[in-house]
Amino acid sequence: MTASSAPDVAAAPALLPEAELRAIREDFPILTRQVRGATPLIYLDSGATTQRPAPVLRAMHEFATGRNAAVHRGAHALAEEATEDYEQARAGIAGYYGTAPEEIVFTSGTTAAINLLASSISGASQGGGGQAARRFALLPGDRIVVTQAEHHSNLVPWQELAARTGAELAWLRVGPDGRLRLDDLDTVITPRTRILAFTHASNVTGAVSDVATIVAAARRVGALTVLDAAQTAGHLPVNLSALGVDFAAFSAHKTLGPHGVGALYGRLELLEALPPGFFGGSMVEIVTMTEATFQPPPTRFEAGTQPVTEAIGWAAALAYLAEIGPDRVAAHEAALTQALLRAIAGLEGVRLLGPTDLTDRLGCVAVAFDGVHPHDAGQYLDSLGFAVRVGHHCAQPVHRALGVHTSTRATFGVYNTLAEVEAYGAALGTVRAYFGEGR
Ligand SMILES: Cc1ncc(COP(=O)(O)O)c(C=O)c1O
Repeated sequence: MTASSAPDVAAAPALLPEAELRAIREDFPILTRQVRGATPLIYLDSGATTQRPAPVLRAMHEFATGRNAAVHRGAHALAEEATEDYEQARAGIAGYYGTAPEEIVFTSGTTAAINLLASSISGASQGGGGQAARRFALLPGDRIVVTQAEHHSNLVPWQELAARTGAELAWLRVGPDGRLRLDDLDTVITPRTRILAFTHASNVTGAVSDVATIVAAARRVGALTVLDAAQTAGHLPVNLSALGVDFAAFSAHKTLGPHGVGALYGRLELLEALPPGFFGGSMVEIVTMTEATFQPPPTRFEAGTQPVTEAIGWAAALAYLAEIGPDRVAAHEAALTQALLRAIAGLEGVRLLGPTDLTDRLGCVAVAFDGVHPHDAGQYLDSLGFAVRVGHHCAQPVHRALGVHTSTRATFGVYNTLAEVEAYGAALGTVRAYFGEGR
């Protein structure tokens, strides 16, 4: 465990006190729903999207009904108020992740953030952004390094960028326990490596990457680091400045916030030199019929009408998490993870994909059943009220590396209870028998 990569969740799995958890759950009315008739919902799919607490919905409602306007363009009162709210939201989000507000570029999510960055680098590789942007330009034979653990969002944009620029793509492998094999670092990261894009935590194995070691290896060759923090941003304390990465991408809807907004974080010095990836209104200074000059960051990267209501909802979500305490959220989810890992360890024919203990591990627990297809397992679990994800979770290579095609994945949120997780562990134990396996 390195000091700056992640908190040592192994040290302190601790459930939130019952009364506090009950109060939290009251903020999420959807959790009282019944599904498939009269079966109580047990929501274990927060890795796909988290539920939203009442204060988030309230903040969005208040903005939509009291102050809604397009930002950074109107001179009327509503436009000024909306602009103030939008920039306050940016400051709140920046504060939560330990960055300066100008280092947070609003996008529609993690995928859009990574594509924006890849598009900007593609532009720089074709001469966009002038002299200042030359540091980003990729040449044939340069190297982009990713990992086998990536979600397709942090893999396919780099494949495309490599194809467009003639750069080569290389990757760090995962070991049998789903952790990145850092013994490969010095062979995969060559002196011509220019970009190292890696996940903070796998959305399949739950393994949390050793950010400090990976960033140090990238720095030795002067490569830029890009962190996919989609899975950690709402579940671990994440201080992007302390992590030392150059860029990071994450989504509001995985941090108790709304769909449709996320961020690209970039160190200011880099954003100032990076050319825009998208072009249009809002991001320009002077436009003639043949050319345009661009605003400073972050505005330069936010072409078009901004997701204002969503940004405000996101800031409210992070304020909600901050009030509970990100370290306590992580400890609660670690305790739930510990309970499920223990339950799975006792099950025959149920293979865990990922680390078997809590060290550098998130509450993302995927399994493969001997003899049962995950879609069948998912349907059965759904009939019992469990909302879990089945399939490849947009991460085919890591499944292949672990010798399976797909899996059944449970992921936790701060609102989950130990009783829910114990019920799920018990249900997992009935899946194979239900399908006539292992008798
Ligand atoms: C690790 C990881 N990266 C990227 C994404 C993509 O996020 P979004 O769909 O919000 O763009 C996800 C979503 O599941 C993810 O888990």
